[in-house]
Amino acid sequence: MKALVLAGGSGSRLRPITHTSAKQLVPVANKPVLFYGLESIAEAGVREVGIVTGSTAVEIKNAVGDGSGFGLDVTYLRQEAPLGLAHGVLIAREYLGDDDFVMYLGDNFIVGGFAELAARFRRHRPAAQLMLTRTSTPQAFGVAELDSAGQVVGLEEKPVRPKSDLALAGVYMFTPAVHGIIENLKPSGRGELEITDAIQGLIDAGERVDSAMITGYWKDTGNVDDMLEVNRKVLETLEPRNSGTVTDSELVGRVTVAEGARVVRSRIVGPVIVGPDTVVRDSYIGPFTSVEGGCRIDASEIEYSIVLRGASIQGMRRIERSLIGRETQIVPASPTPRAHRLVLGDHSQVRIST
Ligand code: TTP
Repeated sequence: MKALVLAGGSGSRLRPITHTSAKQLVPVANKPVLFYGLESIAEAGVREVGIVTGSTAVEIKNAVGDGSGFGLDVTYLRQEAPLGLAHGVLIAREYLGDDDFVMYLGDNFIVGGFAELAARFRRHRPAAQLMLTRTSTPQAFGVAELDSAGQVVGLEEKPVRPKSDLALAGVYMFTPAVHGIIENLKPSGRGELEITDAIQGLIDAGERVDSAMITGYWKDTGNVDDMLEVNRKVLETLEPRNSGTVTDSELVGRVTVAEGARVVRSRIVGPVIVGPDTVVRDSYIGPFTSVEGGCRIDASEIEYSIVLRGASIQGMRRIERSLIGRETQIVPASPTPRAHRLVLGDHSQVRIST
């Protein structure tokens, strides 16, 4: 069995971060989201991995290399434009050959991986095996309709009137039967070769499509809120460790301070991770915050946020629910004169905070 990791795409929901970097490399607890996926692929006993890349190919290659750091053997496959998930499979046709494969969306996050489901797929070898999760917003996902035996009988991409609350999570397993269907697929209304159409094609051709419910936590990290939530989830399992220098400061709960980091006259309430060589001075860092390496946080308060490498935040009270890009500089604006224009009746009593 091989793996096909989709790490191209346009990442429009994570702009402007994705104007300059790959969304699959946005860090969760200071580790790129893609790395968690590669680790779960290795855990499932798969070694050969094709990574589909788009305009951020160089960045992804620099981060993952030949895959040996994950115990994987990685081959890069270039997709000229983000023409859909099934298009990713189409361009990987030669690489995949006649092997079964797991298709993994590089911006997805699954706690606990999928080793058990891969083992089940290997035992039964249906034409496709999907992972499903219940959602309150099926309109935003590919949605599966099941019969009473749990077989998938229909699929729809982002339906206006969903037939179920079962969303497709970003891990799909296929036998080579899917290739014949994808070769004949037509682009959808949004101009993409849809993987849901390919799976529907398998169902229509009488092939078996199995499904399995994800018992643990799954999230598509396509937008900032989801990214912050996944970060929260991972930080909750953080092992506290102080390898930096902490002076006149208080670290409360699960706080990790990396090598070379300095915390001075500050209060950090975990779970929080502070990356290498970051300096935190006269500041408060609140729960569920990841600060990457080489950052500077000075006289500021920040909570429930992700701060990427080399960012500098000074004199800010206060930042919450934010994703701060690499090498960003945030400083207070110089105060503008404020005036109150008042038309007050006789005997008014007015309290204005100044
Ligand atoms: P999506 O999040 O569905 O698509 P996108 O990256 O274009 O994002 P947005 O909706 O914000 O514009 O993609 C899921 C994963 O698959 C993600 O890792 C990107 C990858 N992908 C490809 O590699 N090729 C493609 O043609 C598409 C559509 C996605």
